[in-house]
Amino acid sequence: MPTKPSPKAAGAEENPPAPKPAVALEDLPGIGGITADKLRENGYTDLMELAVASPGDVAEAAEIGVAIAQRIIGEARRKADVGGFESGTTLLERRKKLGRVTTNSKALDELLGGGVETQAITEFSGEFGTGKTQIAHQVAVDIQLPPAQGGLSGEVVYIDTESTFRPERIVDMAKGVGIDPEEALSHIHVARAFNSNHQMLLVQKAQELAREKPIRLLVVDSLTAHFRSEYLGRAELAPRQQHLNRHLHELLRFSDTYNAAILVTNQVSARPDILFGDPTRPIGGNIVAHAATYRVYLRKSKPPKRIARLIDSPNLPEGEAVFSLTTEGIRD
Ligand SMILES: Nc1ncnc2c1ncn2[C@@H]1O[C@H](COP(=O)(O)OP(=O)(O)OP(=O)(O)O)[C@@H](O)[C@H]1O
Ligand SMILES: [Mg+2]
Repeated sequence: MPTKPSPKAAGAEENPPAPKPAVALEDLPGIGGITADKLRENGYTDLMELAVASPGDVAEAAEIGVAIAQRIIGEARRKADVGGFESGTTLLERRKKLGRVTTNSKALDELLGGGVETQAITEFSGEFGTGKTQIAHQVAVDIQLPPAQGGLSGEVVYIDTESTFRPERIVDMAKGVGIDPEEALSHIHVARAFNSNHQMLLVQKAQELAREKPIRLLVVDSLTAHFRSEYLGRAELAPRQQHLNRHLHELLRFSDTYNAAILVTNQVSARPDILFGDPTRPIGGNIVAHAATYRVYLRKSKPPKRIARLIDSPNLPEGEAVFSLTTEGIRD
């Protein structure tokens, strides 16, 4: 008999509405309606975003001079509730709420210290066909399970940049874990991102959704594809990394605010400088390395097997796990 989770009941309390900004962008000296609109279009929706931004970014977004941008940021810092220090007790309380969701493979769960964690970004990287998208689909189903079955009774925001989201796979995987397929699909909110700016804007939209629904997982598949194709050549590396950095920090903030897991996929690029070992590495370099809490590198093995390796984790031992890609989804 299919088990039907009831995400609304379980997650509702843990997703309090985010506080409305007390001061609008227009209230800052030097910001008129047009500038405010430009800023909002570029993802600066409240004072906090401005307070932590760089003058160069703000100048570019609002099409104003750097000196004016600097003044605006200064004002935003004075007026924003920048917060600051949290006691160890508060942090511990927050960590206690940390949730984990199964990938449906015991080995992969163990590698991750018990499953994909909330309040963190987990990156799955690897070459084409290594199972990144399959894992994203599987976790989008499993998060809907009740905690006793490895889920968080949650709903999902799925940002699809390569048009590889397949409802049919969700149906297969939902059946595989005993969730009503229709219900599983209704809890996954999918948006196609057309370019990197749109991708970032969708994270803002996701916040609106998360105020109404118990969103416990946000998938970005793929995190880097648009960034990679839009910024070509050496000269554009720095702006690309800056842009990507902002995206990752917005994702991190989402994970903290809504106690949600962030699952991103990343392709690998050839690494001509290396002679021994694996000649590929995930795209986005140290920016992704710093923001992602867990980085899992996937490679192919004897079909349908895949090997997952945990790379640079702060609190887990490096190791490997073997799992399989089956018709019903991820399995040991
Ligand atoms: N219905 C299915 N039944 C069994 N295996 C499947 C099914 N659909 C996909 N797969 C497996 O998943 C693989 C594709 O994996 P996936 O799409 O997750 O790769 P990816 O890492 O996201 O690649 P890319 O970098 O191209 O996005 C297929 O090669 C196949 O082995
Ligand atoms: Mg894919």
